[in-house]
Amino acid sequence: MTATNKKIAPMKGILLSGGSGTRLHPMTLASSKQLLPVYDKPMIYYPLSTLILAGIKEIMIITTPEDQPQFQRLLGSGEQFGVQFTYRIQPKPEGIAQAFHIAEDWIDGARCALVLGDNLIFADGLEHMLHDAAQRQHGATVFSYQVKDPERYGVVTFGEDGRALDIVEKPVNPPSSWAVTGLYFYDHRVCDFARKVTPSARGELEITDLNRMYLEEGTLQVDTLGRGCAWLDAGTSDSLMQAGTFVQTIQARQGLLVGSPTEAAYRMGFIGVEQLRAVGQKMSKTPLGQNLLHIASEAELSLKER
Ligand code: G1P
Repeated sequence: MTATNKKIAPMKGILLSGGSGTRLHPMTLASSKQLLPVYDKPMIYYPLSTLILAGIKEIMIITTPEDQPQFQRLLGSGEQFGVQFTYRIQPKPEGIAQAFHIAEDWIDGARCALVLGDNLIFADGLEHMLHDAAQRQHGATVFSYQVKDPERYGVVTFGEDGRALDIVEKPVNPPSSWAVTGLYFYDHRVCDFARKVTPSARGELEITDLNRMYLEEGTLQVDTLGRGCAWLDAGTSDSLMQAGTFVQTIQARQGLLVGSPTEAAYRMGFIGVEQLRAVGQKMSKTPLGQNLLHIASEAELSLKER
């Protein structure tokens, strides 16, 4: 086999759902933040749908030790979505880049994406953006979105040619209003880079420091999510409520689902129409279940018409 036709390992994905959710106390005293409802689905369904839409089938779910059983109860082996889940524990929240230490043996030299369990992205053409990022063999891809409160996030500065010049974590005086979202795609060197990240002033292994390594190497692609897109993080009572209202509004208006991993799995060809119907049937008392059944019926009808 020559280097050009060598088969490249599929990208893996990490869903990071650790953390103590202190900004959502007392709601998160007895439940993980990422299991709280965002309208009609558990929060984690939204970033899970994002990974599935990126075409990723091997997914590691990282949680706190005490929350792991609940995640397993909700999500199981992944079979219902046509994917494979591996569960791991983050003993203490010591930063997002720590995920790559925890997962290093499992990543095993593959390329790997990472999504934060409280990040919801809704965008026209999202599938194409995700597909492109997941297909890139060299370097890293992150997404940036204009926000009113950039000081809460990693912030990117762009040069006149549109290329990213710098990324800083939670700057007191933000150099721009472009926040970096919690969705990251990395090449096979990610664990090597992650090993070089040292704790920041707040004692965390910052994902921004890892991203900056790719930036300095000239291989960080920063894609911008434009005006028609929504990036929401559901980490505070207000943003949780806003995310729920957003999903309710879009779903009620269009009759289309936002953040359904079952629908995403069906659209990606990870599950067939029978399985889509079976999942819908299990939830048939809810509008979500009814919606899945409707998608199944439409699919069956178009199959018959062929
Ligand atoms: C983290 C990252 C930050 C990123 C944000 C996205 O912030 O450190 O760079 O912009 O996620 O949600 P944290 O969740 O630690 O506040």
